[in-house]
Amino acid sequence: MNRDFSEALDAAIAHASVIRASAKGLQRILNAVFLDGPFRPLKNFANGTWLEHPLHPLLTDVPVGAWTVTLLLYIAALFFGVNGIGIAIALAMGLGILAALAAIATGFMDWMDVDPTELAVGFIHALVNITGTILFIIAWIMLYTSQWQVSMANFIPALVGYLVMALGAYLGGELVFRLGTMINRNAYRSGPKEFTPVVEFDDLPENKPQRFDVKGQPVLLVRRGQRVYAIGAVCSHYGAPLEQGTLHDSIIECPWHYSHFSLEDGSVKRGPSTAPLPLYDTDVKDGKIWVKVNRVTQAVSPH
Ligand code: FES
Repeated sequence: MNRDFSEALDAAIAHASVIRASAKGLQRILNAVFLDGPFRPLKNFANGTWLEHPLHPLLTDVPVGAWTVTLLLYIAALFFGVNGIGIAIALAMGLGILAALAAIATGFMDWMDVDPTELAVGFIHALVNITGTILFIIAWIMLYTSQWQVSMANFIPALVGYLVMALGAYLGGELVFRLGTMINRNAYRSGPKEFTPVVEFDDLPENKPQRFDVKGQPVLLVRRGQRVYAIGAVCSHYGAPLEQGTLHDSIIECPWHYSHFSLEDGSVKRGPSTAPLPLYDTDVKDGKIWVKVNRVTQAVSPH
């Protein structure tokens, strides 16, 4: 089988049994602590559900930027003779360390819900970034103990940490752009612009979510009394079939990682999902249920 570099790297990591077993063990622990109970709101917060955007990638930008500034300041001090910038270096490096710790914590909250390949690659991504962060912590402590005097000795761990972080960032990109972690599974949905008949009203049982293909789009219909709700049938977090989900009044719970979506407007009520579901208008006419698109992710339909 011909694989390009990225695929070969992912496959090598995912097939390493020690990585798989370690990742699985840690995932089990995180699930035991955060899936239910008092810590669940923390996970929601870390997933970025409240922000309607994953929090982890947003935080990762800070150490990348802060540590790039750190390196440039080191170069200015060590190779161009700029004096008195030890504290500036410590501030930039310290900001990067704090943000990296937050990024690591939020990353684990996203990671605990992924499939085996992403689990293994994400585990290495985390290990690499933790190593990079530790190297920057060492550099910061060395700078502090030398009373902010910049030296080759405190530059070296920062430089190695930066290179390690670059590898971690590469693996992070791999997780999103190749493996699709935390992407919106409904990014390219559309739907009929005109009301389209789907099913006889009497054939849709009450409180039993059902999936229909409406002009090529997966639509979930839920009948509650005389009211019919229509939202996307695919979970925006990882693509679970929502017709297999659990109904809690006007909320549908995803069967895989238990995100909650409102039937009223498709909005996310509980993570790990951060993107709402497509929303469809419904009408009952001539004994049939009709739907047309109300809101999908892309403001201007590509088709
Ligand atoms: S697939 Fe993960 S919450 Fe739905």
